[in-house]
Amino acid sequence: MARIPLEDNFNDVINKTQRGLQITDADLAQRAEVTAEDLAAVKAGQPLDAVIRRVAFALKLSAAALEALAHKRWYPQQPIFPAGFAAFNTVHEDMTVNSYVIWDGRTRVAAAFDTGATCEPMLDLIRAERLSVHYIFITHTHDDHIADLTRFAAETKAQVWASELEPAPLPGAQTFKENAHFHLGPLAIKTLLTSGHSPGMTTFYVTGLSWPLAVVGDSIFASSMGGSATHFAEQYRNNREKILTLPRDTVLACGHGPVTTLGQEKQHNPFFAR
Ligand SMILES: [Fe+2]
Repeated sequence: MARIPLEDNFNDVINKTQRGLQITDADLAQRAEVTAEDLAAVKAGQPLDAVIRRVAFALKLSAAALEALAHKRWYPQQPIFPAGFAAFNTVHEDMTVNSYVIWDGRTRVAAAFDTGATCEPMLDLIRAERLSVHYIFITHTHDDHIADLTRFAAETKAQVWASELEPAPLPGAQTFKENAHFHLGPLAIKTLLTSGHSPGMTTFYVTGLSWPLAVVGDSIFASSMGGSATHFAEQYRNNREKILTLPRDTVLACGHGPVTTLGQEKQHNPFFAR
């Protein structure tokens, strides 16, 4: 698959944090002791290191990680799964969205996470690998993640599951609570409530593949996190408490941008690197 660009640039990270913490530009310039002009330049995408460092400090972001992002010095190393995991990146309006399939190589039973803008490439894989899809799990019910659900559910005849806390019930879907367990042959799937970006945003923690896997939806991205102007603190706290406490070699399958690993995010994500 072609290299997927990072979801957020360094100035997106700054803007997201400001919105989340409700800090105005004037306020931030003052706290960071930078001029309004310098702040505006950085927010427009100019990688001025001295300004970035001060802004990072004022927003409690990692200065080193933010600078690396500004100079495009970092991209996550892609973990390799010999089998049982596939990632899909499809175009939805002016952006792209990810969806994923996992399966057990012996019994050929599979689960999918979200549908992508179109489920066509997932159906191709399912046919090629002769998989039987038991579950379609929905990370959250924002349009881009469920765009092709009706068709995907009809084609696979799989059970559809989403969090009971998502605002609009999905037709035909069953709902789970936090810490629910599902099994797929030898694979175990546990639901972690990582709300913030949406009220029922769920991370699916999968064990039994080559690496522990967390399908995180829009909770966290490679070098960024899910935006929510109103629930930023909640998303941040859930990411810290429920995702970053997973084993260091856990692969993070994000709703947008490239796949990454927890170890890499602990070093390179401006929100979480220390
Ligand atoms: Fe999304």
